[in-house]
Amino acid sequence: MDSIVVNGGGALHGEIAIAGAKNACLTLMPATLLADEPLTLTNVPRLSDIVTMTQLLQSLGAEASSLQDGRVVAMSSHAAENPVADYEIVRKMRASNLVLGPLLARHGHAVVSMPGGCAIGARPMDLHIHGLEALGAKIELKDGYLHAKAVNGLKGAQIELRFASVGATENIMMAATLAKGTTVIKNAAREPEIIDLATCLRAMGAQIEGEASGTITIQGVDRLHGATHPVIADRIELGTYMLAPVIAGGEVELLGGRVELVAAFCEKLDEAGISVTETVNGLKVARRNDRIKAVNIKTEVFPGFPTDLQAQMMALLCTADGTSVLEETIFENRFMHAPELMRMGAQIDVQGGTATVTGVERLKGARVMATDLRASVSLILAGLAAEGETVVSRVYHLDRGYEHVVRKFSGVGAQIERVKS
Ligand code: UD1
Repeated sequence: MDSIVVNGGGALHGEIAIAGAKNACLTLMPATLLADEPLTLTNVPRLSDIVTMTQLLQSLGAEASSLQDGRVVAMSSHAAENPVADYEIVRKMRASNLVLGPLLARHGHAVVSMPGGCAIGARPMDLHIHGLEALGAKIELKDGYLHAKAVNGLKGAQIELRFASVGATENIMMAATLAKGTTVIKNAAREPEIIDLATCLRAMGAQIEGEASGTITIQGVDRLHGATHPVIADRIELGTYMLAPVIAGGEVELLGGRVELVAAFCEKLDEAGISVTETVNGLKVARRNDRIKAVNIKTEVFPGFPTDLQAQMMALLCTADGTSVLEETIFENRFMHAPELMRMGAQIDVQGGTATVTGVERLKGARVMATDLRASVSLILAGLAAEGETVVSRVYHLDRGYEHVVRKFSGVGAQIERVKS
């Protein structure tokens, strides 16, 4: 298993190109199952999760291949006859559940393994199931698999989500594109990845409106056709790299970055004393003063502060002037990075869904363990600010969501390398 070794202390200068969004790509790829004609995605990030989704689609009988060194994925589902998503692939990645809606719409039945828990929380599927049942499916759990059937086809319906779940909104949206009649999803998620999915589905011939408003209206059509679609920029990768020059010092330009993707995050950076400037090619970020100010954070659905940037923000706040309170409202167990940051000298008190961080002058390098994707990158960020050497183990988590992470950090002057351990 590889580790990443970071030597902190040096300021960062230069440019980092932001890749296409992992989470957008993972929902756009299953959309291929809705059409017989090819769907081609460009600006695809080179990540192990994308490889896993490619394998899942292939196991369902779709053709899926990566071109241009992984930047493009070309898919065709004309011969996708298998409606069964096997546990062996689904267990690797929760986003595999995004084939459920498309498979059901295509075949009238689908058998998809339940994804199981993951480190950050239980993450049930009830909202996906209720939404698809409202469209006329009967869904049963047998042997760890969801068996979904729509004997008379899917029919449009009014669905109000108890919580604006990203995945449930995506599954219901995809299924509804081929349902008979009109579907209205109320309290739908409004994340940029939802907007990207709606844009792609429209390019495939779907009739969708209101995706930015929280109420999505979908008029079912008989068939979708092929399309080519560029994946939007990854707002979580963007927010992560925005923090690098703030933590380490210096100034970095994030190519392809846009404020509207991370507006709530930028507001908090401003409150902490960090300048974000729009440039022709992206965003520039730098600290206004020597030490940043403590700020309070509450994670919320979009357009609120994203849960996927909470760990990275905590790494920053460990050396802020004052006490910050971070409230996690989306996932029940998302402070696993806190004890690791404490091994580096951070002062953090976790009580349920709230973490209180009292800033210290400087962190100290240590051996730490990555527990999930965003937690692992927060430890690298902390390592950039720390005195001495930080060794982050279990970095396979990072490969799921950060393309060329070592190359991107070292390209702006960070002392970072990947080693076999
Ligand atoms: C997506 C993102 C993930 C991000 C999350 C929240 C992908 C591939 N992943 O995950 O990176 O952290 O949005 O922004 O896009 N819930 C239920 N029942 C359900 C579904 C969800 O109770 O049927 C709960 C979950 O347990 C969780 C909350 O809703 O507490 C948010 O989950 P959801 O928005 O569905 O996140 P994902 O789509 O899984």
